[in-house]
Amino acid sequence: MAMKVTVIGLGYLGATHAVAMAELGHQVIGIEADPQKLAALQAGKLPFYEPGLDEALTRVIETGRITFQPDHNESSRTADAHFLCVGTPQVSGSYAADTSYLFSAVDALAPYLSETAVVAGKSTVPVGTAKELINRLSAAAGFSAHLVWNPEFLREGTALEDSLRPDRIVVGVPAGDAHSERVMREIYEPILNGDTGSAAGQTPFLVMDVATSELVKVAANSFLATKISFINAMAEISEAAGADAVALAEAIGMDARIGSQFLRNGIGFGGGCLPKDIRAFMARADELGVGSAVDFLADVDAVNLRRRQRVLDLANQELGDIAGKKILMLGAAFKPDSDDIRDSPALDIAVQLAKAGAKVVIHDPMSLAGVMAKHPELDSVQDLTSAAQDAELVVLGTEWKLYRELDANSFGELVANKTVIDGRNALPYHAWQDAGWKVIALGRNLENA
Ligand code: UGA
Repeated sequence: MAMKVTVIGLGYLGATHAVAMAELGHQVIGIEADPQKLAALQAGKLPFYEPGLDEALTRVIETGRITFQPDHNESSRTADAHFLCVGTPQVSGSYAADTSYLFSAVDALAPYLSETAVVAGKSTVPVGTAKELINRLSAAAGFSAHLVWNPEFLREGTALEDSLRPDRIVVGVPAGDAHSERVMREIYEPILNGDTGSAAGQTPFLVMDVATSELVKVAANSFLATKISFINAMAEISEAAGADAVALAEAIGMDARIGSQFLRNGIGFGGGCLPKDIRAFMARADELGVGSAVDFLADVDAVNLRRRQRVLDLANQELGDIAGKKILMLGAAFKPDSDDIRDSPALDIAVQLAKAGAKVVIHDPMSLAGVMAKHPELDSVQDLTSAAQDAELVVLGTEWKLYRELDANSFGELVANKTVIDGRNALPYHAWQDAGWKVIALGRNLENA
């Protein structure tokens, strides 16, 4: 049955969720306080790049099932559910997550909340936040509010797909609140029934207590970060021992207990989630008096950041001294198929190279506008041919298809020196070597390959 929902906060998570809800047939009111983001969405444009989501947005706007506004109005009173999707960024000068946007969101919602409406938190939060939000919301509304936690596991680049065909749906429900569970099941019914392409009855709908549901999200992201840092640690060892971390990952990944995903070594993880989530987890565990339980995450973070330094060391090694040398960074986004440059390893390396005196030219098919605004010290060049001109070193920082499919021969004619550091182990190195390139790939010794 079609329901009426509001989605509060329309960043990557909220905008995707709002479109997904409309795709499921629900009537959606998207609420976004930022006037620029709001105007873009009202005009049917996404304020960020996400493959397939813009077409889906146009489609659902045409059906009349989605509208956008700056804040709640009378229409919010008749909503069956309200999804909280605001950001929880890292507090500056601390590892903790800033949950203030969530508290502001429930304060703004309280006057429009009906007694039967269910508030569903989707933002990534320190465990214990939902309980505080329930208390705050109930006090402000003057009745016992229904609030559940419903973490989101979407990845940028495949956000809509992940929302419509998730591996599982997790809902943290306070003890005895059967109404909230029923409403949440009804909202996700089209997915559970198989209407969105997953096999009917095959998407697990996991109901648990609220604290566990909050933890599921941070635990999942911490595990993924740990897996990446594990293989990057193996890359460090491989480099020292003359072994090959890519072959190693392939071999251990074939053990079904380990699995091959998230075992790609390189310059490590970035983005708006993994780095901040492991830090917030450490901060929250400390508050709970069990900081030592996740001490290892400090190492996960450290290994991750060391891989960025490794590229700087390799650049110095190759160029003698990088001061004054022209280095081309291929990619600025934290991963391909995204224009997100938050905590991007590629961009961070480019900035560090520039700080060390190199003339850094940076190219990215989608994120250069953001780079230009934030990093005027880098030479952002839209045209790849001009960007490559006379480069003395090329670094692959983001494995866009465009770069993976470059013609190593003609590309080699543009640069001054055919040396490439493959920070993502993504280039077909035989073809590059055949075209006369020296290929340095993280965690590998290609001289022996
Ligand atoms: C991550 C999680 O994968 C999602 O499940 C979660 O919902 C999301 O955070 C979130 O908390 O909202 P995302 O940040 O979009 O999703 O990106 P990932 O695909 O996880 O990649 C993160 C980083 O790890 C990227 O910089 C990527 O290049 C890097 N990575 C990934 C590796 O270095 N090696 C790998 O093998 C895989």
